[in-house]
Amino acid sequence: MRNFRTRGAVALAGAAAIAVVVSLASTAEAGTTLGASAAESGRYFGTAVANYKLSDATYSGILDREFNMITPENEMKWDATEPSQGSFNYSSADAIVAHANAHNQRMRGHALAWYSQQPPWAQGMEGTALRNAMVNHITNVATHYKGKIYAWDVVNEAFADGGGGGRRDSNLQRTGNDWIEVAFKTARAADPGAKLCYNDYNTDGVNAKSTGVYNMVKDFKARGVPIDCVGFQSHINSGSPLPSDYQANLQRFADLGVDVQITELDIQGSGTAQANSYATVVKSCLAVARCTGITVWGIRDSDSWRSGDTPLLFDNNGNKKAAYTSALNALNSGGTSSPPPVSTSPSVSVSPSVSVSPSVSTSPSSPGGGTGNGCTATTSVNQWPGGFVVTVRVTAGAAAINGWTVGLTLPSGATVTSSWNVTRSGNSWSNVSYNGHVNAGQYTEFGIQGTGTAGTLTPTCAGS
Ligand code: G3I
Repeated sequence: MRNFRTRGAVALAGAAAIAVVVSLASTAEAGTTLGASAAESGRYFGTAVANYKLSDATYSGILDREFNMITPENEMKWDATEPSQGSFNYSSADAIVAHANAHNQRMRGHALAWYSQQPPWAQGMEGTALRNAMVNHITNVATHYKGKIYAWDVVNEAFADGGGGGRRDSNLQRTGNDWIEVAFKTARAADPGAKLCYNDYNTDGVNAKSTGVYNMVKDFKARGVPIDCVGFQSHINSGSPLPSDYQANLQRFADLGVDVQITELDIQGSGTAQANSYATVVKSCLAVARCTGITVWGIRDSDSWRSGDTPLLFDNNGNKKAAYTSALNALNSGGTSSPPPVSTSPSVSVSPSVSVSPSVSTSPSSPGGGTGNGCTATTSVNQWPGGFVVTVRVTAGAAAINGWTVGLTLPSGATVTSSWNVTRSGNSWSNVSYNGHVNAGQYTEFGIQGTGTAGTLTPTCAGS
């Protein structure tokens, strides 16, 4: 087993305090798609995608019109990516990533370590051999996708159902209780720019299972184990109904200092009842500042793993359901708060002997644009050895703006590998269709990921 150490790790929670804090989401004009409407409060709206369906024009048409985050439904799982030990196959997952890159969509990675969907060779392993195989798997997959993943489900479904609030028995659990934190440290070392999430089901309300997860996250935060987010699958059905304390449960996790995300949403039912439940889930996310996005587990009802429950937003023919309209209206009703400006990466631990700590800094711009249509840009930089994420916040001045361009020059040696919610022309970064309008005093955000060192940035902003 490899030895992981956290010497020198630095908590960055305080960094958020030096960022410019604007508590209200932009109340820009109502968006007409799920992704655009979610983006108005700095959030995303995603879906699970199966690679073999991308050639279906109806499927990909809806995908590219409505969604700006993609989770591979099965293609990044252990059985798919490492079918025989040490031999990696990324072809299906790479095809999804290529699709996302071509359509300005981001990726959630799913899932690095899970008791289920292990390849047969791993299913038969135990002890140190399995632990080493898990570490090797995470290192390889997270390295292959380094810089391309917004958030990884590092560990999936590790807690038991029922009243105990303890861990699920599995071959991974039997390698030692520390397998989860080892998985997170391994993922951080491989891709320091990705948010690292724990993901589970039946944790959507306050119950014994979710409290078990809550206690683990609290412990990880206290000990500097790198965890950035918790995913709530939210498979809602008659046996697992929408809990009345759904929002309160999201909030209690957010209060631990992690982002929360709704990661596999589907709701059994039809008509008004289903539509109302979708609205409740969406509004719950919007009401929690650190709820950064929602992903539904498929596009059409016929794409669902539970197609008989008709649990999704589009019918079998790709038509919008009442649930779609309800979810969109809820997104457009606006959040009371939006996600925080700083990507928090509390610590980076590199095995076996090097520990590094990313730093986050913020810098404001001088106001750009003329009187009445000005804006300011501020940057938050999450820097780690060899790479960075810059989050740029564009805040409108005394009047609303209908478009903006940020001037931002990165130092020589820094190379942009991806960006989101923005269109780039050299050192000019301009709004895309859905985030140009920003009301007076409100803001929108875009992101840049790159290799090298971002340094001290001095953005300018011009509104129109
Ligand atoms: O691709 C093969 C096909 O060639 C074969 O003929 C067929 C025979 O059964 O199987 C096909 O693979 C199936 C695969 O889905 C693709 O459709 C697998 O058997 C089946 O097990 C697999 O199910 C996936 C399930 O995870 C596995 O646990 C579902 O698609 C997927 O939606 C589901 O997703 C999970 C999340 O990862 C974690 N949270 C719960 C969620 C729902 O179960």
